[in-house]
Amino acid sequence: MPLPVLVLNGPNLNMLGVRQPEVYGRQTLADIEAECRARAGSLGLEIDFRQTNSEAELLGWVHASRGQASAVIINPAAFTHTSIALLDALLLLDVPVIEVHLSNVHRREAFRRHSYVSQAAQGVICGFGGQSYILAIDAVASLLGIAPEN
Ligand code: DQA
Repeated sequence: MPLPVLVLNGPNLNMLGVRQPEVYGRQTLADIEAECRARAGSLGLEIDFRQTNSEAELLGWVHASRGQASAVIINPAAFTHTSIALLDALLLLDVPVIEVHLSNVHRREAFRRHSYVSQAAQGVICGFGGQSYILAIDAVASLLGIAPEN
């Protein structure tokens, strides 16, 4: 089995379900995690799914993933638009980084249209709610040369 795929979630994503459901939907982060586990499992991938409200903790997780993960899927939440430190941490990695967002950040406020993180990302998936994460897992599987069974 390949090294685990690290799925990182930034600030306020622990509040999914009650947080602006008209924007982010009614799924909780636990719901999304369960769907990710099911999809990854069907592809023979293990996932390590985490959320933090702390930028320092997120940076630490990115640093510690060196050599320990086969890919990183990250929803950096508001740090997307603010954190050069997170970009610099992700640039340390030599595995694929996929940036995901629940909402389509390009049809929202202007400040959400710029992502520092995108410069470190192989690709960006946004606008599909929790399905953005599933599409990212499929993208990782494809990058790792894993063919879906169906
Ligand atoms: C988000 C979009 C960000 O602009 C926002 O700050 C979030 C969530 C998304 O998943 O749509 O917290 O990353």
